[in-house]
Amino acid sequence: MAQSSVSRIVDYPDDPIELLKQLLEAAAKQQPDSLQYMNLATIDDEFGVLNRTVLYRGLSNDKCIMYVTQRFTRNYKNINANTKCGITILLPQLVLSTPDTKPHTWQVRLIGATAVELPDAELDALWSKEPLSAQIRDTIFPCGQPVDYDELKAKHDQFLKDHLEQGHSLQRPSTFTAFKFVAQRYDFLKVGVDQIADRVQYRRQENGQWEAMHVST
Ligand SMILES: Cc1cc2nc3c(=O)[nH]c(=O)nc-3n(C[C@H](O)[C@H](O)[C@H](O)COP(=O)(O)O)c2cc1C
Repeated sequence: MAQSSVSRIVDYPDDPIELLKQLLEAAAKQQPDSLQYMNLATIDDEFGVLNRTVLYRGLSNDKCIMYVTQRFTRNYKNINANTKCGITILLPQLVLSTPDTKPHTWQVRLIGATAVELPDAELDALWSKEPLSAQIRDTIFPCGQPVDYDELKAKHDQFLKDHLEQGHSLQRPSTFTAFKFVAQRYDFLKVGVDQIADRVQYRRQENGQWEAMHVST
C-alpha cells in the first residue's frame, strides 16, 4: 500500500545559522570525514545565469557562509560584476536527534544573497587549510582554458617534484580569494521518503532580527 505523511520541522532556533550548524553537526557525526558542497549561481553576461559546485568553507566571524575561489575564474568575475548570488546546500539522509528516527533530506537555500569579498588579512588562514593539490592548481593552472592533458600532467609533476625538494610551504598566490554571503532569507526544507516536505523560512527584518515561519513547498 502506498504511504504518505507530512514532514515537520520542530523546535527550530531563532537564528538560521544555528539551524545550519545543527544540520552540519549531524552530518559530521554521521560521516566524520565528509565535506559539504554548495551550489552557487551567479549572473553571467554570456549565459544569463551560471551555477557550479563549490566547497563550503565554514562561517565568517559575523556568521556568514564562506567559499574560496580564484580571481581568474568566471565565478569571481561574475560576482565582481554583480554581487547577487543564489546558493543551495543539499544534506541528504540526515538523522537529527529527537524527535526524528528516520533520515530526512534537507536543503538549505540562501535567497537574495550578496557576496562580500574577504579582506586580504583573512585569506592566509583559508590558504593554509587548502590541500596541496588545490594549492598547486591555484598556483600553476589557469581556469576555463582548453588544456592538453599530457602538458598539464607534466607541469604538475615537475612542480610537485620541485616543491617537495625545496621543502617549504607554498605561498598564497595573489589570485586566491574568498567570499562570504549575506543573505536576505534562509530557507530550510526537510523531507523524508513518501513525505510532503516542510519548509521554514527565515526573513531578515529591517531591524536585523530574523522572522521565521513555515511556508508550503
Ligand atoms: C567537488 C567540487 C568542489 C569545488 N569547489 C570549488 C570551490 O570551492 N571554489 C571554486 O571556485 N570552484 C570549485 N569547484 C569548481 C567549480 O565547480 C567550477 O568548475 C569552477 O569554479 C569554474 O567555474 P566557473 O567557470 O563558473 O567559475 C569545485 C568543483 C567540484 C566538483
